[in-house]
Amino acid sequence: MDGLGRQLHGTDNQVRRRDMLVGLPIFASSLLAFDHAQSVGATTRERFAGKPKLGTAVRKEDVADQAIARIIADNFSIVSPERDLKMSVTWPNRSKYDFSGFDTIYRFAQRTGLRVRGHTLIWHNSVPGWSRAAVSVSRPQMYRLIEGYAGALGRYAFCSWDVVNEALADASGKGDLRDSFWLRSLGENYIAEIFAIARSIHPSTPLIYNDYGLEFGGFKQQAALRLLRRLVDKGVPISGLGLQSHLFARDNPAFPSLWRFVENVTALGIGIYITELDISSKYVADHRNDEDIDLATERTLNAYLSCFAGARIREITTWGVTDRHSWLNPQGHLRQRPLPFDANGRPKRMWTAIENLAVDR
Ligand code: XIL
Repeated sequence: MDGLGRQLHGTDNQVRRRDMLVGLPIFASSLLAFDHAQSVGATTRERFAGKPKLGTAVRKEDVADQAIARIIADNFSIVSPERDLKMSVTWPNRSKYDFSGFDTIYRFAQRTGLRVRGHTLIWHNSVPGWSRAAVSVSRPQMYRLIEGYAGALGRYAFCSWDVVNEALADASGKGDLRDSFWLRSLGENYIAEIFAIARSIHPSTPLIYNDYGLEFGGFKQQAALRLLRRLVDKGVPISGLGLQSHLFARDNPAFPSLWRFVENVTALGIGIYITELDISSKYVADHRNDEDIDLATERTLNAYLSCFAGARIREITTWGVTDRHSWLNPQGHLRQRPLPFDANGRPKRMWTAIENLAVDR
C-alpha cells in the first residue's frame, strides 16, 4: 500500500485497534482525505535512517472522550500520561500512592493495543504532595522513599521512561544543574543515582533524560552535552535523550546548531526521543488566518525534523491530540494551533508532516 493509501485506510494494526474500540461511534473526520499529503516532499523521510513510533499525550479525561479516543486509536501507537503519572498527583501522602488516574490511561492503552510512556519520575515541578509539609527527611531516607515509589511502578510496562525531567538550569549561573527541591534533597549526584534506581525496577526499559530548550544552541545545549557525556562515561544506565520539542512556528524557521548537537548526542551511543512535540503559533498568530498558521507550523516542523537526518528518532510524541486540548490553550480557548489535529479532530498539515516520517510504524 502506498503512503497515502495507508494514511486513508490505516495499517493492519490500526484497523485491529479500531475493532477493539467496540461501541465507539465512527469519528468520520479522522478518516478525511489528506488532500495536502502530496505537497509534502518525501526527501525528509528518505533521509531518515529509522522510523519513529508515534505517540501522544493524554489526560485521564481524554480517555472517556470518544472522539479523542478514536483519533488516538486510529493514528498513534503510544500514549504518554500528560498529568496523571506525576508525583504531585500520585503521591499525596508519604505512605499512600494514588495511581487511579494513571490506571485509567493504562487500561485504555491495554484495551486498545497501545504502549505507554512513563512520564515522569523526577521533575522539579512535580514534587510529592507530602513534601510540601514542613517535614524533614534525611537524604538516605529520601532515596529509600523514592526506591519504594519507583518500585510501585514496576507493575507497569513502559515503552520508554522519562526518569529525570528538566534537571538542567536555563542559563549559566551556579552550575549546570537547576537549583531544585531534588538537587537540594538528593545531592549533586542525584541524576546518576535515580537512573540506577530506575534500572533496578525496569531492567530493559529505555531510560530517558528529558528536557526542553536544547535545540537553540547556547548554554543549555552545551550543558546537556556535558551532562550526557558524564553519565555515559560513568556507565549510568541512560538509554536516550528526550527532546521535549515545544517549538514556535516561524515563517522562516532555522535551527542552526541542532544537527551538530544531534550528531554529538548520537555519537554517545544513546537514542533520540521527541517527547512533547507542539508548535506554538504565538509569533505568527497576529493578522493571519488558520491556513497561514498551519503552513508556518508545517514548515517549522519540517525544518526541525530535517536536522535529525541520519539519526534514528525512536519515538515522536505530540503533547496532546487536538488544538482544543493543548496545555497552550487553557480552558479550551483556541488562541493557538499547536497540535496535529484541529479543534474538530481533522488532521492538519502538521499531522501529514509527522505521518510521512512514520508511515510504516
Ligand atoms: C504540563 C501539562 O501539559 C499540564 O497540563 C500540567 O498542568 C503541567 O505540566 N514539560 C513537561 C510536561 O515535561 O510534563 C509539562 O506538562 C509541560 C512541560
